[in-house]
Amino acid sequence: MILVTGSAGFIGQAVCAALLARGDLVVGLDNFNDYYDPQLKRNRLEQTWRIASIDRYNQVEADVADRVALEALLARWQPRRIVHLAAQAGVRYSFDNPDAYGVKDVIGAIDLAASYGLKVIAKNPGLVPGATAYVAHPNVYGIIVEKGAGNAADMDTLRRKAGKPSLPVWFVAFGGGRGWAGSVASSAKQFRHMGVTYSSAGEYGNAIDVLQPSS
Ligand SMILES: NC(=O)c1ccc[n+]([C@@H]2O[C@H](COP(=O)([O-])OP(=O)(O)OC[C@H]3O[C@@H](n4cnc5c(N)ncnc54)[C@H](O)[C@@H]3O)[C@@H](O)[C@H]2O)c1
Repeated sequence: MILVTGSAGFIGQAVCAALLARGDLVVGLDNFNDYYDPQLKRNRLEQTWRIASIDRYNQVEADVADRVALEALLARWQPRRIVHLAAQAGVRYSFDNPDAYGVKDVIGAIDLAASYGLKVIAKNPGLVPGATAYVAHPNVYGIIVEKGAGNAADMDTLRRKAGKPSLPVWFVAFGGGRGWAGSVASSAKQFRHMGVTYSSAGEYGNAIDVLQPSS
């Protein structure tokens, strides 16, 4: 059994369909929030029902931050894997609505990952209110930063505030980010344990390390 959170989302529904097609049993979790038209999510769920019978797919309507619902789900279905895609998506939306990206949800997800023995990389922590608590979580082992989501000095300040001055930080730039990667690399080399990767072919397509982290 595999748990897919955000199962009615753009990516989550496609993941459910792919897992079902390869023969997995799936339980989906989604709160059908109204960040965009929930009917689109209901329509996606219909697509999943069309390819899966009740003994192969189950849907739970709940919030990932609802511990009681989550624990009931875990106890009932005992998934051996979790694909965690439930999130307030949208980098641009985050600039105008930072409160929609609560650190409580992020910490809840990290706790969940920790209970499965998974390590966590903090992605774009500078965009999360309460970023210090996010990075300070004992199960966070590194930081990855995309173009526009923070600079070297900010990330160094953040990891120090979080009490982890040696936490590895990796900046990534894709497509039009060559200039950004170069300028981040020139400031990042003043700090320890920071690297910069650039790919002109999209995400990790032909990635080159512009700056290798110093030891
Ligand atoms: N779409 C992209 O291009 C893209 C690119 C990179 C990363 N991602 C990431 O992939 C993940 C999924 O993205 P998507 O495009 O499918 O977004 P989406 O908004 O279509 O799907 C997210 C789903 O999660 C659900 N959800 C949100 N918060 C929830 C909560 N607290 N509890 C339960 N369900 C909740 C929503 O109702 C939605 O159905 C996100 O983490 C997103 O940041 C997406």
